[in-house]
Order: sequence, then structure tokens, then C-alpha cells
Amino acid sequence: MSEPRIHDDVEEVLLTHEQITARVAELGAQLATDYADRNPVLVSVLKGSIIFLADLVRAMDVPLAIDLMEVSSYGAATESSGQVRILKDLSGSIEGRHVIVVEDIIDTGLTLNYLLRYLEDRGPASIQVCCLLDKPARRLASIEIDYRGFTIPDRFVIGYGLDYDERYRNLPYIGVLRPSVYTPAAE
Ligand code: IMP
Repeated sequence: MSEPRIHDDVEEVLLTHEQITARVAELGAQLATDYADRNPVLVSVLKGSIIFLADLVRAMDVPLAIDLMEVSSYGAATESSGQVRILKDLSGSIEGRHVIVVEDIIDTGLTLNYLLRYLEDRGPASIQVCCLLDKPARRLASIEIDYRGFTIPDRFVIGYGLDYDERYRNLPYIGVLRPSVYTPAAE
């Protein structure tokens, strides 16, 4: 049986589904211990983080709520202006609540830096950051990451929610995208 075509664009598997599952279970257990009596609100940013969020909350056996935001960066991705437009705001109040921001990947950190300031202004009791992937090589804004799944090298990754041009989010693992997909002359 031939493999589905999305796998053909993967140069290398960086993290297997088994590795991700094991690490997400550890993060969930740690968060459940730390937030046992705090009824946290997990705030995620669409769309990349939803797969991580869905697995993470099922590894947390404590009362919690979920809220979702959608943001878009102004201008080209290379501009790194840090200016972010809110496309979808929180649906509930976070005033006085313990917030855990759940992110798929932190790259320059500019998006999250903006988001954290935005959320701070809404009067939460506390805010902590949980990210699956930390790509520190290109960091421009200093971000304190409280819960980190994996630190990865400076490569463009796809799968487990992460996309290139809206594709590959449904890969069950994290892979490195074959450069020929975005620069056809590269191979
Ligand atoms: P930052 O503001 O540069 O930290 O942007 C983070 C966002 O950029 C993530 O939420 C992803 O949507 C996207 N991103 C950064 N690196 C990658 C990658 O390697 N693959 C897919 N998306 C990425």
C-alpha cells in the first residue's frame, strides 16, 4: 500500500508520534499537579496549537476551561514587526483567572510577546506559557517559557498542527519540510 502523499514532502522526522505523546503526557501531568486547585483557563492560538491543546487537556485530570484566539501578523513574515492583529478575541473573561497560554511553537517570540501583553491588560491572576516546540535560534523577544515540550534546531517544521501554506497539519509527527516544496530550484 502506498503512503499518503503528504509524507513525501517530509525530509526527516524530527519527533515521532510516540515521542510527542509521551512528552505531552508528562507536560499534562505536571500542569495538573501545579494547577490542581486553580481551575485554569488554557488560552490557545488558532490554528496551529489546537492539536497540541486537544492532547494536552486530555492529559490533565483537573477542572479547567479552554478559550481560543486567532491572530495574524501584519505584513510579510520576514518583517518581524511584532504588530499583531486580533482576528478572534477571547470568548470569556480572564479577569482574576489563572491563564496558561498554550502555543505550538515559539520562533521569534514576537507574536507571543504581543499576546502576553494583551492578556496581561485583561487582569488575570497569573499567566504562564506552555509551548510544545521552542526554536530559540531566531528569538527576537525574550519570553519566559514555563513549560516546554522540546527544543528544536532552526529548521522549518510541519505536522502535529503546524502547517506550510495550510497543509500538513494532520501529520501525526513533527517533520522537517523538504526545501524543494518552498524553493523549487533547491533540489
Ligand atoms: P513567532 O512570532 O516568530 O514566534 O511566530 C510563531 C508562529 O510562527 C507559530 O505559532 C507558527 O504559526 C509560525 N512558525 C514559526 N516557526 C514555524 C515552523 O517551523 N513551522 C511552522 N510554523 C512556524
